[in-house]
Amino acid sequence: MGYVVALLSLAIMVLAFQPTSQSLNATSCTISKYNADHIEQAQKECTEITIDSIIVPYGVTLDLTKLQKGTKLIFSGTTVWQYAEWTGPLIKIKGTNVEVYGTDNQLFDGRGHLWWDGQGGNGGKIKPKFMRVTVTDSHIHHLNFKNCPVQAFSVGECHNTLIEYISIDNKDGDTQGGHNTDAFNINGSNNVTIQHSTVYNQDDCMAMNSGLYTYFLNNYCSGSHGISIGSVGDGAEVGYVTVKDCQIVNSDNGVRIKTKYGQTGSVHDVLYENIELKNIHKYGIIIQGDYGSSGGKPSGGVPISKFTLKNIYGTCDSKAADVYVIVENASEWHWSDIKVTGGSKKVSCTGIPSGTGYSC
Ligand SMILES: *[C@@H]1O[C@H](CO)[C@@H](O)[C@H](O)[C@H]1NC(C)=O
Ligand SMILES: *[C@@H]1O[C@H](CO)[C@@H](O)[C@H](O)[C@H]1NC(C)=O
Ligand SMILES: *[C@@H]1O[C@H](CO)[C@@H](O)[C@H](O)[C@H]1NC(C)=O
Ligand SMILES: *[C@@H]1O[C@H](CO)[C@@H](O)[C@H](O)[C@H]1NC(C)=O
Repeated sequence: MGYVVALLSLAIMVLAFQPTSQSLNATSCTISKYNADHIEQAQKECTEITIDSIIVPYGVTLDLTKLQKGTKLIFSGTTVWQYAEWTGPLIKIKGTNVEVYGTDNQLFDGRGHLWWDGQGGNGGKIKPKFMRVTVTDSHIHHLNFKNCPVQAFSVGECHNTLIEYISIDNKDGDTQGGHNTDAFNINGSNNVTIQHSTVYNQDDCMAMNSGLYTYFLNNYCSGSHGISIGSVGDGAEVGYVTVKDCQIVNSDNGVRIKTKYGQTGSVHDVLYENIELKNIHKYGIIIQGDYGSSGGKPSGGVPISKFTLKNIYGTCDSKAADVYVIVENASEWHWSDIKVTGGSKKVSCTGIPSGTGYSC
């Protein structure tokens, strides 16, 4: 009896996952039609899984949270999701020592225009977040996202992970009502690098609200609200962040840190270096400790300390302000080679610690 079941299940496995190769240690499976059971089974049986051109039904997460250690997860062709108003995410990935990547023809087509109404996460249609990844000792690369309904890529509780060559293209949202389409949201993570990525969107290029040792390197951000830390509060800590060799163009803000008024937490050991700004509409550099306050008053419960800016250069629109700072309780800032020009909006800066090497 057990033997028959074993044989039967082997036969089912072969049919369902079309193993493309098999060795003593690894089995490859290809999923070319959505089926939740097959996808779950593939994660049990296979350490190389290809998801090829599937249509995910409405209101369902493509659930890849049971990957075995060491799995290679490959996306090929276009993945689409049927329309529904719900919070998502559309894909969830969890694992240790996994490699996740797309082939040359890979696309996650979010078909954001079906949801976009100019209101993002603030109202109107309920829009699904796109992808949430929780991985350790992993490598994620060469994934293409198009037209995310709202937030694109959430890096949640990831450790020792390299994310690179990601393309997030929400250009269509500029004219069709895309809003809150943050590219990378990072929380609760430690030692994550995001590099060589390209973003066209309508909210933060990176937004980090908790975690340590984040490296955001060689990325291109267009249309965004800037490369942001925050908003930080609720006791969260953000520390040891390096943002280096990035370009921010046609965006509301460039360099941005926001901490929540009346809350606690900390932001420390932050470096932004070699950042080029072009056509910034609101603030080239904005550091604010008053987020969420009505009167535009900063509070000191989320102090920003050991904050270095080095070689931040480029242009703002004339309606913008080049630099705006409103903080309290800040310490040990070191700013050098700040060459942001073009903005003629007059703002006053408050709370820049003495010895920063900059005033405005
Ligand atoms: C299977 O794993 C063993 C030990 O981990 C390794 O020596 C062997 O080369 C592997 N075989 C294949 C076909 O990958
Ligand atoms: C940090 O993550 C990288 C992968 O991006 C890894 O190579 C490195 O060993 C990690 N560092 C530590 C201290 O674990
Ligand atoms: C990160 O965000 C997720 C989703 O919002 C939440 O469930 C989780 O508790 C957060 N983790 C930390 C450490 O803040
Ligand atoms: C300033 O920050 C320190 C921590 O560095 C904190 O103990 C203190 O309460 C803060 N002060 C104010 C006025 O919030």
